[in-house]
Amino acid sequence: PRAMSRACSPRAAPELVLRVTGLAKSYVPPSGRHRRERAVVAVEEVDLEVHRGETLALVGESGAGKSTVLMEIVSLTAPETGTVEILGQDAARLTRRTARLLRGAVQIVPQDPMSSLDPRMPVGDIVAEPLYARRVPRDVVAARVPRLLGQVGLAAADAERYPHQFSGGQRQRIAIARALAVEPALLLLDEPVSALDVSVQAQILDLLLRLKRELGPAYLLVSHDLAVVRQIADRVSVMYAGRTVETGPVAEVFDAPRHPYARALLSAVPLPDPVAERTRRRIVLPGDPPSGVPVTAGCRFLARCPVAALLTPGRRTRCETEIPRATQVTVAGTHTVACHFPHGGMPWQHIRTDRGTSGRPWNQPPDRPPVH
Ligand SMILES: Nc1ncnc2c1ncn2[C@@H]1O[C@H](COP(=O)(O)OP(=O)(O)OP(=O)(O)O)[C@@H](O)[C@H]1O
Ligand code: SF4
Ligand SMILES: [Mg+2]
Repeated sequence: PRAMSRACSPRAAPELVLRVTGLAKSYVPPSGRHRRERAVVAVEEVDLEVHRGETLALVGESGAGKSTVLMEIVSLTAPETGTVEILGQDAARLTRRTARLLRGAVQIVPQDPMSSLDPRMPVGDIVAEPLYARRVPRDVVAARVPRLLGQVGLAAADAERYPHQFSGGQRQRIAIARALAVEPALLLLDEPVSALDVSVQAQILDLLLRLKRELGPAYLLVSHDLAVVRQIADRVSVMYAGRTVETGPVAEVFDAPRHPYARALLSAVPLPDPVAERTRRRIVLPGDPPSGVPVTAGCRFLARCPVAALLTPGRRTRCETEIPRATQVTVAGTHTVACHFPHGGMPWQHIRTDRGTSGRPWNQPPDRPPVH
């Protein structure tokens, strides 16, 4: 047990803090007729690895299944399909003792900070709760809470106040302090700044970077802001309709994405160089993002894929009948793509593009007529 608690602290963690393979998750309605048939497949096949101290960004359109992946990881239960390993421990085979230790090793800052903070609890209790859950003695908790509040830029006296008395950015600081209370080896961050004003976003991102330097946890970060991803992530994993389609070092994937969906997605990122930015073309995908996993025999991206549209019928059959598996595309073996035709040389000049700044931001759901 002592070795286990050491392994669960960030600095002594093994090289791989998280390994997810072939993860699937569907939502089955709790009751009603034909509930199995009405199940929504939210995640179909996701593979992820997070190394000690690194930041892996998880990106993809709204509804791709990103939050579901994070919730599956933090649940520490056996997934429907696939495996989740935290610090080398298979979540499906935990003893009660190991489960308790691992529960501290992985913490989440959920997508909506307001709903995750109990409005009836003073901030001090909110931050202390995970410590009490791990049976940390009261006097230790009493000493640690003011320190945690200080680490996230709040005052010790804030412990007496309630969540509604804080601004959005401050509430996010509270959620971060709570998640860091038990010194996790891995912090799951679901859109940590998307609900905040731009100026506050920068402050929270700075805070996350500083806390990482000081405390050393790895981050698994969901963000639709690709400029932020480029700035703070080491590696990036792109999801489409519940599947991992491309994973690799940020610089490599951003500069030379191979999967047609990743190419379209990343064509929406503004370029730092003003001259290049003026001529940047954005790849426009036909159709709307799917909600859940589309029902086809082959590649889930086929209906919107600009590459498949240009293939000869013979080659296209492969996309129609066979789900593409992740394959290495570089000698280093750190960049994987799940596409039958991932290589350059495609006639991208024939693919419909648009001026960089026009069109709907890629992560936004399609416009719906107002409901009266
Ligand atoms: N509790 C639920 N019950 C039924 N379906 C759900 C539930 N939660 C999510 N889904 C569905 O699962 C799919 C994936 O949802 P998820 O929230 O994981 O996506 P996401 O990538 O986090 O999207 P966003 O960027 O909008 O946060 C969607 O089709 C969604 O409608
Ligand atoms: S497998 Fe075919 S349809 Fe799927 S992304 Fe690749 S080219 Fe497009
Ligand atoms: Mg989400």
